[in-house]
Amino acid sequence: MSNEEVYAAGLLNRALDPATQPPEIQAFLQAELDLLHDVITERMRVIDVGCGTGRHLLLLRDRLRLGVGVDYEHSYIAEANRRAGGRHLHFVTADATAMPVLAAFDFAMCLTNTWGTMSDKGGVLREMRRVAPRPDTRLLSVYSEASVPSRREWYRRLGHAVLEETREYLGTEGGFRSEHFSEARLRSLVGECIIHPIADIAYVVTF
Ligand SMILES: C[S@@+](CC[C@H](N)C(=O)[O-])C[C@H]1O[C@@H](n2cnc3c(N)ncnc32)[C@H](O)[C@@H]1O
Repeated sequence: MSNEEVYAAGLLNRALDPATQPPEIQAFLQAELDLLHDVITERMRVIDVGCGTGRHLLLLRDRLRLGVGVDYEHSYIAEANRRAGGRHLHFVTADATAMPVLAAFDFAMCLTNTWGTMSDKGGVLREMRRVAPRPDTRLLSVYSEASVPSRREWYRRLGHAVLEETREYLGTEGGFRSEHFSEARLRSLVGECIIHPIADIAYVVTF
């Protein structure tokens, strides 16, 4: 199976159940929420690339002027729109490399190693730069190499035992592929950027 098929089978909903998450993963997810509370300020227009069921924009909704989430898995987008109930949050089914969006945003984010599950990483960065044109308003959060033991355990609990481990990715028996990054690899892929560690197992990349 491809990642697209794995997501279509509903992996995200099970993965977001805290009962499936090792403590290191829980700490990382919480640290991302804390970070967003700091960086997303009142009246911002924010786009979430690979938004899943929309949890980050839904959390921030009261402070946003506009929130748009994009994900290629239509059932996740339907769920996000159902939760949002209209107003200034909009969720759209599309590939992150070709987002049907003309507006300019104050901030573009791609969280929870979503970028590390995407095949055309350069294409996604290009789209993030197009929709959030100002430097340092684009944010990725991705796993570091230190995440491997806790992800192995998390994926095992999700029925995706790891069959393949390389310096760049884990591949599971269910066909899921999730990458991790060194600072050097991030710089070679993203170019000019600022990298901060977050929660011991991940990096936040601003570009
Ligand atoms: C790790 S999940 C995270 C979802 C969400 N950001 C969250 O934290 O709850 C990755 C998401 O990216 C979506 N995705 C992966 N590749 C994509 C692509 N090329 N275009 C759009 N969405 C994609 C998947 O459907 C999935 O919802």
